[in-house]
Amino acid sequence: MSTTQSFKNPRAKHGFQGRTCSITAVGSYVPERILTNAELEKIVDTTDEWITTRTGIKERRLAADDEFTSDMAARAAQRAMDKAGITADQIDLIIVATITPDMLFPSTAALVQNKLGARKAAAFDIEAACSGFIYAMEIGQQFIMSRTYETVLVIGAERLSSIVNWKDRNTCVLFGDGAGAAILQHRPDAHGLLTACMGADGDKAMLLCMPGGGSRIPATTDSVEAGLHHLQMDGKETFKNAVNAMLGAAKEALSRCEIDISQIKLVIPHQANRRIIDALGERLGVKADQVFVNVDKYGNTSAASVAIALDEAVTQGRIERGDLALLVVFGAGLTWAAAVIEW
Ligand code: ACO
Repeated sequence: MSTTQSFKNPRAKHGFQGRTCSITAVGSYVPERILTNAELEKIVDTTDEWITTRTGIKERRLAADDEFTSDMAARAAQRAMDKAGITADQIDLIIVATITPDMLFPSTAALVQNKLGARKAAAFDIEAACSGFIYAMEIGQQFIMSRTYETVLVIGAERLSSIVNWKDRNTCVLFGDGAGAAILQHRPDAHGLLTACMGADGDKAMLLCMPGGGSRIPATTDSVEAGLHHLQMDGKETFKNAVNAMLGAAKEALSRCEIDISQIKLVIPHQANRRIIDALGERLGVKADQVFVNVDKYGNTSAASVAIALDEAVTQGRIERGDLALLVVFGAGLTWAAAVIEW
């Protein structure tokens, strides 16, 4: 059980006191198909030992041939809605964070709206790569706090297996598919999303990108043959930036709430690499059991990652109502964000 916490609600100074935004419920979905490191040894020149020691990943999930980002998003959303006890007609807005939309347009959020039958909901996608779920929650929160909407559905969903180059051992071992969702509403009894510190550095945009398929390099036979429709990453540089950016955002979020890391029940970081998670935990000065880890089961699911982790943390009883949790993410853009939530 949580103890009474002392913290500051940074939103209050902006005149939002009394209209807070809480996460009513979370839900997640991962595909059934498990791809193990042993199976990857047969696809590319790699070993279970290399993948485990360098990343902490043991297996990841792969979507079925007829299962797309919007399908996984809708399944995660339905689970969150069931837990929140709300029906599709109550949803005012759907925001999907993804870098692997079903198609460039229409938005995956519009496809999810149709799958759920959420007829009155507005719907749009946002793209902040692995940071997308916190960016989307922060956007959704603004609509709740401003009293524009009562119920916002936020989803992080990815089918990274469709943009991974299955011949590139540097990247294909790292990623997986899945989705996580949250229902945002005002709850009079909770402070909810206390703060979200978001940042970006477009100067390092090309460290992690998929060059083809947009207006700069539309799909042609040449672009496909050159492999430009696959995810590309400078892993070493991305790693260095990840730890520093996540740490900076986390410290800023704690400082805004005037709380010490010891008041945080659980740190829930983006699940990209066990070594990044451990380095972050060490530099934050938290014990290992204060940090949530599931990268071993799912690999990096980008925008879905922290959403799936939050759902599993709640399901496993690692956080309970009233506890403070720190969510920290990092991804392409570069982008990063940290959020303090009172669950
Ligand atoms: N199996 C075996 N060997 C491999 C593999 C593999 N799967 N992949 C790379 N190697 C080799 C490399 O070729 C290299 O060999 P060489 O020295 O002969 O050239 C060697 O292993 C070392 O490679 P490094 O790149 O130095 O390995 P590193 O320890 O940096 O780990 C990794 C690589 C896991 C990619 C790491 O850098 C990382 O996790 N980076 C951050 C990823 C991340 O955080 N992404 C964030 C967001 S993702 C998003 O936004 C979509």
